[in-house]
Amino acid sequence: MVHASSPVPFANVPGTFAPVRKELDEAIATILDTGAFVQGKWCRELEAGFVDYLGVKAAAAVASGTSALELTLRALDVGPGDEVITTALTFIATAEAICATGATPVFADVNPKTLQIDAAEVASLVGPKTVGLLPVHLYGAPAPMDELTRIATQRDLWIVEDAAQAHGARYRGERLGSLGIASCFSFYPGKNLGAAGEGGLVATRDHGLAERVSQLRDHGSVAKYYHHEIGVNDRMSEIEAASVALKLPLLDASNAKRRALAARYEDGLAGLPVAIPSIEHGGESVHHLFVVQCADRDSLRAHLDSMGVQTGLHYPLPLHHQPALQGIVPAGLSLPHAENAAQSVLSLPIFPDMTEAQVDTVCAAVADYFAGRRDAPQTQASDTVAA
Ligand SMILES: Cc1ncc(COP(=O)(O)O)c(C=O)c1O
Repeated sequence: MVHASSPVPFANVPGTFAPVRKELDEAIATILDTGAFVQGKWCRELEAGFVDYLGVKAAAAVASGTSALELTLRALDVGPGDEVITTALTFIATAEAICATGATPVFADVNPKTLQIDAAEVASLVGPKTVGLLPVHLYGAPAPMDELTRIATQRDLWIVEDAAQAHGARYRGERLGSLGIASCFSFYPGKNLGAAGEGGLVATRDHGLAERVSQLRDHGSVAKYYHHEIGVNDRMSEIEAASVALKLPLLDASNAKRRALAARYEDGLAGLPVAIPSIEHGGESVHHLFVVQCADRDSLRAHLDSMGVQTGLHYPLPLHHQPALQGIVPAGLSLPHAENAAQSVLSLPIFPDMTEAQVDTVCAAVADYFAGRRDAPQTQASDTVAA
């Protein structure tokens, strides 16, 4: 067994602030000096920056990606008796937001090649209670937006994009987050565009929708102490907004670094029995995560861990199997591709200031694992990764 020359972390969140550290320190000092802590100039700057970046009409900065999803669904009047179709392979926040409105999430299986929501499955799940589709651009790569848009148009449904993992990605030249009626971003620190804390944003091509989200995030108020509906406190703080607004102009460059690292991984892993999910035709991923699939994922992961390579699982339990969602999910629901993915996915380290040498170290550690198993009975990734 070779040993990793030095440990490879899964991510480097502090490193993402280094390029804007001076400006951010100054912004924080001004925020502290003025006491303008919540939903002020930096939030407005962030909203304007996103409108420009995505080419949408309006944006509303909110407390988190989860609040972005919840407030968008509320602003669309989603409620009890409604069904919203989403993927079974995502972070639970996607489904939580649907449940928070009183509506029911309906889980579609994933395409085994891309691990994105399967459009044919979605079409088969649309029923009289369906009001909209909530696809996730998983791992920074696009959901099949052409097919989903076709289904939505035919069945008179809206599409809200969960773009929490896909800041800056494109589909047929268009930015993800500009394709549905609205899109929801997370600025959780580890995201491609991460805040110094929590944060989120709703982007939309509908001014009325943005207005309603803006009211809901601030206790349903249209002016201070005038409340038109019962809302919540999901405002974004200025320090978080400044940290994101300052990083936004650097997003494309840091995504380009992720793309170069992903390409190096693809070369370095070629010939090894791991599968790399493919990207929708016409899509450009921003590689929020670099995911491989392997039949004996857990022992590969343990091996990498022993060599100092940190990894993650996105996600080890599909949503229709989550204890929290039993009672909502039809009994015995089987979504074999999502289930298979949950058993086989492994996220390798990727972050903008990762070095090529670190990618090579990870690839060597993966190769070392399979070299050690050469004499053991082999299970190919394709045994679990359906074609
Ligand atoms: C796909 C997806 N949706 C929603 C969220 C929720 O975002 P936040 O953590 O900012 O609430 C996340 C964040 O992890 C996510 O990955």
